[in-house]
Amino acid sequence: MVDLTTVKTSNTNLPSHLTAVFVGGTSGIGLYTLLALARHCAHPTIYFIGRSQPAADRILTDLRTLNPNGTYKFIPSDVALIKNVDAVCEEIKRDEKYINILVQSQGTMSTGQETAENMHATASLVLHSRMRFQLNLLPLLQAAPGLKRVVSIFTGTKEGPITATELQMRSLRNPLKARGQAASAVTLLLEEAQRRAKDVGFVHTYPGFVSTGIGRDFGMVARMVAKVAETVVRPWLYVPEEESGERNLWLATSGRFAAEEGDKGVDAAVGTDGKVGSGVYTVDEKGESGGEAVLKVLQELREQKKDEWVWDEIRKELVRITGKESL
Ligand SMILES: NC(=O)c1ccc[n+]([C@@H]2O[C@H](COP(=O)([O-])OP(=O)(O)OC[C@H]3O[C@@H](n4cnc5c(N)ncnc54)[C@H](OP(=O)(O)O)[C@@H]3O)[C@@H](O)[C@H]2O)c1
Ligand SMILES: *[C@@H]1O[C@H](CO)[C@@H](O)[C@H](O)[C@H]1NC(C)=O
Repeated sequence: MVDLTTVKTSNTNLPSHLTAVFVGGTSGIGLYTLLALARHCAHPTIYFIGRSQPAADRILTDLRTLNPNGTYKFIPSDVALIKNVDAVCEEIKRDEKYINILVQSQGTMSTGQETAENMHATASLVLHSRMRFQLNLLPLLQAAPGLKRVVSIFTGTKEGPITATELQMRSLRNPLKARGQAASAVTLLLEEAQRRAKDVGFVHTYPGFVSTGIGRDFGMVARMVAKVAETVVRPWLYVPEEESGERNLWLATSGRFAAEEGDKGVDAAVGTDGKVGSGVYTVDEKGESGGEAVLKVLQELREQKKDEWVWDEIRKELVRITGKESL
């Protein structure tokens, strides 16, 4: 476990100017991370994306109090739609020459919702939408002075075998199996992005249990059960909101998760290929890299060429929807 003091010490020594994009910054872990950045960076420029304008209005008010020296911009968008992802990225590219940090936490626990682009929203948000953002914004990340980092908040270190024949996973009823496959796909897609940008660091993290808005799409009974469980187990199991924000900010800024090329921290973490400082990291709620079992799952997937298959499945959908050949 990387202790909270280490995390906080690192966070209090951030560069004075950082530009960051938070997709899913209107609620939950993305929001806690965004607030941590506004607390610790003297002059942050922060873009955040989500659908809820009322949530964004409250957050903008809080941010201006928290750090009046920051520049804050909310872009309202339903990013389960790939065409909207492209529009959001165009808007950011119009205004910024570079970004240092891309944090993605868009997701939903509800299943069965189809988007107007014929996608399963649950899968689209975690896989297609996130891959589109990270590829579209790679040039801005590569143009950044100093820190260049992508963080995907989902289920790092929970990687499992991929048995599904399609990545929308509409028919996968066993949530644990679905999680293992989706986790692997997220990590393999970060590796795919890294092949295009060795000077950017990539982190897939599992945030632990965190009290957020993620249960809002459940039925009322399930919500009540979750609420009771949370109240009872909270002190033992739950990562407090502020700590969650600090830990994810650390993943987004610490030299431990350095890019393959460029300055290496003295204590770089082990990457997804088992090598120290190799640029793509799958990390648990304690800040530790996935161990041997996780690396073995990933290695087997690469040997089965599942990495190529995953990217191919995603690319086909991106091309179908946008009509543009994908990067
Ligand atoms: N909380 C946990 O204990 C936990 C544990 C393990 C993994 N995770 C994973 O961590 C990630 C973040 O979860 P969270 O708990 O922070 O959830 P959350 O509180 O529900 O936040 C999700 C964020 O995604 C945004 N979002 C969802 N659908 C969107 C859409 N169609 N278009 C644009 N934005 C959208 C939401 O914004 P709007 O509502 O404004 O659209 C919100 O900002 C998820 O992938 C989740 O599976 C969470
Ligand atoms: C805003 O930035 C200026 C210049 O760096 C600094 O002097 C001032 O203390 C900052 N204000 C706040 C509230 O942090």
